[in-house]
Amino acid sequence: MPIHPWRSQRLVFTAIEPEDDDFLSSIQADAESYFNAAGFLVVPQAKSSAAGSREYFRDKCLLAVKICLPSPASAQPNAASGGDAAISRPIPIGTIALTKAEANQSQHRNGSIGINLLRAHQGQGYGSEAIRWALRWGFRYGNLHRIEIGAFGWNQGAIRLYKRLGFVPEGCKREHLWYDGKYWDLVELGMLESEWREQYGDEENAVAGVEKSNGDVAVKS
Ligand SMILES: CC(C)(COP(=O)(O)OP(=O)(O)OC[C@H]1O[C@@H](n2cnc3c(N)ncnc32)[C@H](O)[C@@H]1OP(=O)(O)O)[C@@H](O)C(=O)NCCC(=O)NCCS
Repeated sequence: MPIHPWRSQRLVFTAIEPEDDDFLSSIQADAESYFNAAGFLVVPQAKSSAAGSREYFRDKCLLAVKICLPSPASAQPNAASGGDAAISRPIPIGTIALTKAEANQSQHRNGSIGINLLRAHQGQGYGSEAIRWALRWGFRYGNLHRIEIGAFGWNQGAIRLYKRLGFVPEGCKREHLWYDGKYWDLVELGMLESEWREQYGDEENAVAGVEKSNGDVAVKS
């Protein structure tokens, strides 16, 4: 399949628009996932808070997109080219973002991933796929040097997943969060560009071969 910069094997990544507020609200309505992703005070979110999330994504993030399943139409044989028609009506299942450094910190080339999937789509490998896509985007297109991700102490499955993806545990902020009657640690993990190339180099070379043969996306060697 030709390489498209906003696609991965099973997912399509699209911009967050004002008309997505209902979708953002539906993500925020899942208290556990919402707290897992952000650590905010556990209060029911008004629909209007979706606009605040959109502003955060717009103002504070280098990359902020909806994680989507391709539209059923893209499964049609004539959509196999991966062209724009094939991604015209994707189905949103979550969001993923890479934070943007303040202007006077941008020279460090750091970013941090935040991800939240609708519960019905968790545990099917979409989170792994989206994080791998965001790493690739961050290092190849965003020119980042290191990418961080954090998880709260009760989210051991997420911590295992991030290690499996190649993130290195870098620290633990002890008893950093108050949730459900007790304090919890914040576990911080990170990946350098060199570590990403080491872990994903073979895939990148395979992708580069496809890109070259298709004359599609320019490749940094
Ligand atoms: C955490 C999250 C991104 C993982 O993506 P996913 O698609 O559910 O996970 P995958 O199918 O790719 O990988 C499965 C692994 O993720 C772990 N995992 C973490 N949270 C999970 C969840 N809520 N549901 C299912 N699996 C989860 C599983 O334990 C599994 O690892 P294991 O086999 O070692 O047990 C996703 O579940 C999510 O968005 N959860 C709600 C918000 C959140 O926790 N955000 C991350 C904050 S750090």
